[in-house]
Amino acid sequence: MKYQFSHIPVNVLPVNTKYRKIRTAIPAPETLKILLDLEKYESQSMHGQLPVVWDRAEDFQIYDSCGNCWIDFTSTIFVANAGHANSQITSALHTVIDRKLLHTYTFAHETRALFLKKLIEITPDQFEKAFLLSAGTEATECAVKLIRMHGQTINSSKLGIISFQGAMHGRTMGAEMLKGDPHQSAWIGYRDPNMYHLPFPYPWTAKDSFDKKYDWAKRFQEDMEDLKAKGLNFDNIAGFMVESYLGWGAIFYPVAYIKALVDFAKEYDCLVAFDEIQGGFGRSGKLFVYQHYDVEPDLLCLGKALSGSLPLSAVIGSQKIMDLPEFGSMSSTHSANPLCCAAGLANLEAIEFGNLIAESSRKGKILHGRLNILKEKYSDRISYIFGKGLLAGIILNDPKSGEPDGLFASRVCEKAMQKGLLLVHTGRESIKIGPPLTIWDGALEEGLDVLDEAIAATVQDTK
Ligand SMILES: Cc1ncc(COP(=O)(O)O)c(C=O)c1O
Repeated sequence: MKYQFSHIPVNVLPVNTKYRKIRTAIPAPETLKILLDLEKYESQSMHGQLPVVWDRAEDFQIYDSCGNCWIDFTSTIFVANAGHANSQITSALHTVIDRKLLHTYTFAHETRALFLKKLIEITPDQFEKAFLLSAGTEATECAVKLIRMHGQTINSSKLGIISFQGAMHGRTMGAEMLKGDPHQSAWIGYRDPNMYHLPFPYPWTAKDSFDKKYDWAKRFQEDMEDLKAKGLNFDNIAGFMVESYLGWGAIFYPVAYIKALVDFAKEYDCLVAFDEIQGGFGRSGKLFVYQHYDVEPDLLCLGKALSGSLPLSAVIGSQKIMDLPEFGSMSSTHSANPLCCAAGLANLEAIEFGNLIAESSRKGKILHGRLNILKEKYSDRISYIFGKGLLAGIILNDPKSGEPDGLFASRVCEKAMQKGLLLVHTGRESIKIGPPLTIWDGALEEGLDVLDEAIAATVQDTK
């Protein structure tokens, strides 16, 4: 059962700093009607979020209609890398609206051509063509289709897809199958016999935790042998779907592990797709997360910060792979919508213009430096800090049992909200941090002070 944030307003100390304002009880009493209407008319599966009713979001700040203002450490959910309501994006959208072109289906329009050209130009050379969609989950499903189509050009049984237990690839049926979480995919009622899952190579599963000499390449081989023992024929693997880091905790793979995976894929003529939907476009201090592993994947799944705003996702790859589906045989009604493409183009330009990838790397040093100090300070609570660039995962445990403590994580998020900071609530034993890459250094530092206060207050409450 997920932690449910209370909708009963709590009187909290007022806050009035350069970057934050808290003037009312939280949640703000005047916003309760909206929260109650959502509860009444919308599936509860959409709920569970911190009870802040967004009225306006600009750059790295979120405002409600009652005069409260939060520093945003979420970018909604790793979308607003170029800042909320980035002026380059909003002005591009105004231009499209004023021209009166809101939809074209797969009929051509100029902005789509401009956006695709830009996307392919800024990505490494092996990515020659794209397929545009709306949601991230469509992109991962599309990549599975391409991987299998490619496999079948080699042999008709080459259909096997290998992904990682606990990875996030979306909420549609194929994407949930990729996740390999028996609980979350129980509703499907059957298993795709050609989908296999590797255990995620968590650092704590090394012989000695974080042992620098641990042979992660061997671990990959051993895990593959385990799958073989369960009936997998290596020649029938079509490809791998790799979430570029494990989403819930921002946990990266050991580099040697991923290199071994890519070498294996070459040996057995299968494709490697990286799901960069969450980590792409500068979040980790590089354009894409896979670049930290020094490998060359065949396909990338993109979404979220691809447009920084409107629904837009993509799969990119070589011409040979991207042209496998027959002429005119793949479509999605809203894909390549003129507004989404305009937002995407302006967003890619804004990332370049603001030098935001380098900024993510620079500010990431501030973020991780401060988080490692917090880890020392709350050493009985914080077991790991993961992530790179302006991305972090804080893993929390119960000081007595040493077990993961999701409740504590939720309470820290709630306390931070009451103090004017929005954190990514994962519902697990992790808190994630992903501010817009445009955040000012002072706001980043202030947000980290608030995080410290929120942890201290939660520790106090649980005594
Ligand atoms: C790594 C990853 N892949 C895929 C998805 C699914 O994207 P969407 O929610 O746009 O379908 C997500 C969403 O959180 C994600 O983090």
